[in-house]
Amino acid sequence: MLELNHVSVEFMSDNNVLAVDDVSLRLLDGSRTAIIGETGSGKSVLLLAILRLLPPNAVVSGSIAADGEDLLAADSKRMQQIRGGIISYIPQGGGASLNPLLKVGFQVGEPLIEHRKYTKRQAFEASIPLLRRFNLSHEEELAYSYPHTFSGGMRQRAMVAMGIAAGPKIVLADEPTKGLDEKRVRMVADALDLIEDETLLCVTHDINFAKSVGRDICVMYAAQQVEFGDSKEVIGHPLHPYTRNMMAAMPENGMRYQESGFAPSHDSYTDEAGGCRYLNRCREHMERCAVTPPLFDINGHKVRCWKYASSN
Ligand SMILES: Nc1ncnc2c1ncn2[C@@H]1O[C@H](COP(=O)(O)OP(=O)(O)O)[C@@H](O)[C@H]1O
Ligand SMILES: [Mg+2]
Repeated sequence: MLELNHVSVEFMSDNNVLAVDDVSLRLLDGSRTAIIGETGSGKSVLLLAILRLLPPNAVVSGSIAADGEDLLAADSKRMQQIRGGIISYIPQGGGASLNPLLKVGFQVGEPLIEHRKYTKRQAFEASIPLLRRFNLSHEEELAYSYPHTFSGGMRQRAMVAMGIAAGPKIVLADEPTKGLDEKRVRMVADALDLIEDETLLCVTHDINFAKSVGRDICVMYAAQQVEFGDSKEVIGHPLHPYTRNMMAAMPENGMRYQESGFAPSHDSYTDEAGGCRYLNRCREHMERCAVTPPLFDINGHKVRCWKYASSN
């Protein structure tokens, strides 16, 4: 289980930036969670905080624990074991991060050398059943092939296979579909579907992709969680005005999704004034929105909006 309690991240410089503000998540074993939010909402910083890969000027507060182990207290040697061994990371880029000069089997098995003390040959052998698990048939032949002989979909699956090679319990993916066309987005979703036993936490700004990979969806806006719940609930009955507007702006709902049009300016919430961060854009705002709303819990569907104060 991966547990985040009141996690905040602030970058210290002339202008301090609160990139993640009070995020709590409890990801049970085998759960699948998508975090959706526009550019700058703090998604990548949150994943990097879990992996402890933030630059030194980042101050992380709150607690992050994997199976009860406090990750913020782990020393750097232990963090190296955890990265890839217990928590793996699938980067964005559609399989482009495979090394063109190395046979696929050596790349897919590589994490086993670092994390499970396999020899090069053993790791290569172990890549074969991994490729099979990801529906790559003729897996032996493929292990000996170079990435350029793979189709886009095959590369995606090889990437995910590599991500889970060392047997991590938790898989983090940061915008794995960024810059991909619709067909390739589908391929990534299919590859991630094959992750069944591991806990998946996937960050995206694509609602449709979030819907297909996440059983739970967390919506982030301006560094905060504004909504969390079962994906069918969040997509089917969005509660937060921001989530509703985001859905209404989906292309299939008649308008083009303009990411930049929604991006909040940092000035609007780095000040100490408090209040709901969506206030200036919200058509439903009330007087009490000048006070920061807490996360209200309505039968497990959480929302940070005063409209739901009475239903709590
Ligand atoms: N190293 C850094 N130093 C200062 N600010 C940063 C740094 N990395 C990210 N930020 C800021 O933190 C905020 C959240 O960034 P990020 O998590 O990358 O957004 P997302 O992944 O949701 O697009 C942004 O305002 C970004 O400018
Ligand atoms: Mg990002």
